[in-house]
Amino acid sequence: MIEVFSTSAEQTEKYGELLGKTLNGGEIIAFYGGLGMGKTRFTAGLARGMGIKSDVSSPTFAIVNEYPGDISLCHFDMYRITTFEDLCTTGFFDYLDNGSVLAVEWSENIENALPEDKRIIIEIERGEDDDSRVLRMVGDSVYEDSWR
Ligand SMILES: Nc1ncnc2c1ncn2[C@@H]1O[C@H](COP(=O)(O)OP(=O)(O)OP(=O)(O)O)[C@@H](O)[C@H]1O
Ligand SMILES: [Mg+2]
Repeated sequence: MIEVFSTSAEQTEKYGELLGKTLNGGEIIAFYGGLGMGKTRFTAGLARGMGIKSDVSSPTFAIVNEYPGDISLCHFDMYRITTFEDLCTTGFFDYLDNGSVLAVEWSENIENALPEDKRIIIEIERGEDDDSRVLRMVGDSVYEDSWR
């Protein structure tokens, strides 16, 4: 586990970018943390670190946004996904193991469906003031080292 602090959305993106640079494809970035904690901003940084040029926006309505690249990024918002049937309709299982990086907001909702190997947990919670965040990563040390 590694814990870092962020005092701005830009800094949170930067931590995403640092992690994004270490990804090889097939990893699942499992976000935990409530509304407005910065999961989408972090994912924008991930994309940048992976060399993806597109602007990343919240997949709230589409449920999944796909960003093609040398390694593609699939960005899920599981906020409204509460049953196994819902999850199947998102195509989640088709994206698993296709070599893309999967970034999953609201992992809380699909916990049992997330394979443990290649899973990188990112927990974000609020710090002492509105703009501060505590970010925790639990994953292979190669990934954790990106924040050291
Ligand atoms: N240190 C910080 N890190 C990340 N975001 C911050 C920070 N400080 C302020 N913010 C603001 O918090 C908001 C985070 O929004 P974002 O959409 O990334 O959250 P989210 O976790 O994806 O929320 P949701 O669960 O609704 O999808 C943005 O408006 C951003 O500017
Ligand atoms: Mg979001």
